Amino acid sequence: MSERRAILSVDGGDPIELPVYQGTLGQDVIDIGSLGSHGFFTYDPGFSATAACQSDITFIDGNKGILLHRGYPIEVLAEHSDYIEACYLLLEGALPNAEQKKTFEHTIKYHTMVNMSVEQFISGFRYDAHPMAVLCGVVGAMSSFYHDSLDITDQEHRSISAHRLIAKMPTIAAMCYKHFVGQPYIYPDNTMSYSENFLHMMFGTPCEKYECHPALAKAMDRIFLLHADHEQNASTSTVRLAGSSGANPFACIAAGIAALWGPAHGGANEAVLSMLAEIGHEDNIEEYINKAKDKNDPFRLMGFGHRVYKNYDPRATVMRQTCDEVLEVLGVQNDPLFRLAKKLEKIALEDEYFVSKKLYPNVDFYSGIILKAMGIPEEMFTVIFATGRTVGWISHWNEMITNPYRIGRPRQLYTGANVRDFINLEDR
Ligand code: CMC
Repeated sequence: MSERRAILSVDGGDPIELPVYQGTLGQDVIDIGSLGSHGFFTYDPGFSATAACQSDITFIDGNKGILLHRGYPIEVLAEHSDYIEACYLLLEGALPNAEQKKTFEHTIKYHTMVNMSVEQFISGFRYDAHPMAVLCGVVGAMSSFYHDSLDITDQEHRSISAHRLIAKMPTIAAMCYKHFVGQPYIYPDNTMSYSENFLHMMFGTPCEKYECHPALAKAMDRIFLLHADHEQNASTSTVRLAGSSGANPFACIAAGIAALWGPAHGGANEAVLSMLAEIGHEDNIEEYINKAKDKNDPFRLMGFGHRVYKNYDPRATVMRQTCDEVLEVLGVQNDPLFRLAKKLEKIALEDEYFVSKKLYPNVDFYSGIILKAMGIPEEMFTVIFATGRTVGWISHWNEMITNPYRIGRPRQLYTGANVRDFINLEDR
């Protein structure tokens, strides 16, 4: 138990003692759980100063621009590791040895196919349905296909569900794309790496095999790795909240996908490209920078700013480098869209408004540009984010389920009407 105490007194009333806990890194937290019994709630809309849980998985220091997964800096993982290894690390808590990695990779490959009924299910969506709408529905429906792994109290079930989700997400994501463009589904090829296989299912057709440039497979792997987890963000918190009611993992991940879709979160990568298209030309950048600064204009520079990072997002640093590599490999550095993006980045990094508010380009700014250069349509960007993030969501869900937890049930500051007399319809 904590020895340290914070003392709270409201209007000079009796002091309320609140325990203070210290994590291994990061801010100390004040345990306000007993406040309800003293007649108070805390008020923190947007959860700017609320630690909703205890977790061993990921640490972020937003002021220093540090992101650690199980203690390993993201840039070190990006340089020396790969997505599959990061999945193992997030799920199991330690890097795998060679044998463990081989077994894990085999397990994931063994689960890449989806039940044939999933094909029929996807085909039932309107031909031009947004791939995120399809993904959300299909992942939610997975609990109707895989009942044999839904007992959340059974470790074996939880493990199979986690492996199924990680393995099948690229297959489902690619199927969402194929449905969107009206092409036949391409089945997974288990001789390929996770990322190569995803690109094969996206760009291959029954008439033509997709020859994957190694630099693009590497870039794809980096995109998955850099999105793998990010602490208690909106979608991960949604997964935890849904899971706290005892819902099955497929339902919880579907809830996370829905939360990710918004433009303030994972939808930002798609929004970056829409914004670049709207700006249209380098000559218009100033006008849009001014719009972003105008308090009366809802326009925001998409791909800039972050709730936690008040420094360069370390994922963005790696993504920026990958972006330069991909543009060079594809020979599109001089494409007007990418030149526009680079100029926007430079101006925003120098502009007093963005500098003083510490609004740096975030991971979505560069991932959108990379994916666009690779020929992936904007509607698929958030689907790809969701694919990479699945391991983070399932790791957090698993961590919650295997530790003591209660249903998440926030309270509120009620500002509505007081008790009123009911007036009969004829008298209103
Ligand atoms: N363009 C212009 N001004 C901005 C921007 C932006 N992109 N982001 C924040 N600001 C301003 C905002 O107006 C506010 O100004 P003031 O203090 O004068 O009122 C100040 O900066 C702080 O902003 P906030 O809205 O209080 O910050 P937040 O922590 O609630 O929001 C954010 C964080 C990421 C939602 C926001 O920066 C944003 O909307 N960015 C654009 C969308 C985006 O790129 N999202 C992806 C986030 S990274 C990937 C992920 O984790 O999903």
